[in-house]
Amino acid sequence: MINIVIFGPPGAGKGTQSEKLLAQYNLVHISTGDLFRAHIKNATALGVEAKSYMDKGELVPDSVTIGMLKAKVQENPEANGFIFDGFPRTTPQAEALDQLLTSLNTSISACLSLQVPDEELVKRLLERGKTSGRPDDANEEVIKNRLAVYMRETNPLKEYYATQNKLAEIHGVGTIEEIFGRLCEAIDKHA
Ligand code: AP5
Ligand code: MG
Repeated sequence: MINIVIFGPPGAGKGTQSEKLLAQYNLVHISTGDLFRAHIKNATALGVEAKSYMDKGELVPDSVTIGMLKAKVQENPEANGFIFDGFPRTTPQAEALDQLLTSLNTSISACLSLQVPDEELVKRLLERGKTSGRPDDANEEVIKNRLAVYMRETNPLKEYYATQNKLAEIHGVGTIEEIFGRLCEAIDKHA
């Protein structure tokens, strides 16, 4: 199995690149952000809870997020591997993911970390906010909070994966094709 964590701040291109990677490597794409947005659209209890955090750019509590992620992995027993997008975002999430994969006799192959300067992230998200309908893209204050939460809670996970020799830092500015090429090169090295 190839199991990839696509890592990086809001707007780094995780979703965009995941779409290309899942086709190239025949992986199941799990984006916790997309799963939460589907719950919000369907007005589930989980969606109502998640929305109260997401609209402010805060993280949804680990207990909710980890349970949802596990269920999604277990729904795909035949998968050739997974691409985890926007998960893990905290140390308990990373530990829960390792435990889950161990129980399935597999593990993370690589954590690919997209590096993009803050000014570029803000520009991309404000631009998308004009048409996405995502409340968390709609104003610069919430975007800045998402970046601050990322630095505080999520960025430290690079160390978690570096310690396991699984971290690849990828320059995340350029055309979508250029960045895709860099990601494939890193996967072919690690997996
Ligand atoms: P989530 O949905 O994961 O959003 P995010 O990580 O904040 O960032 P995005 O999805 O907006 O960015 P992306 O890196 O996917 O970039 P994209 O490809 O879209 O999370 C949303 C919220 O859900 C969180 O704030 C939290 O509340 C909650 N949540 C989710 N997971 C959680 C978890 N594990 N724990 C707790 N809470 C969780 O690209 C961005 C834009 O840039 C697009 O418009 C794209 O077209 C453009 N673009 C892409 N590549 C390029 C390029 N090379 N050049 C120029 N533009 C580009
Ligand atoms: Mg995304």
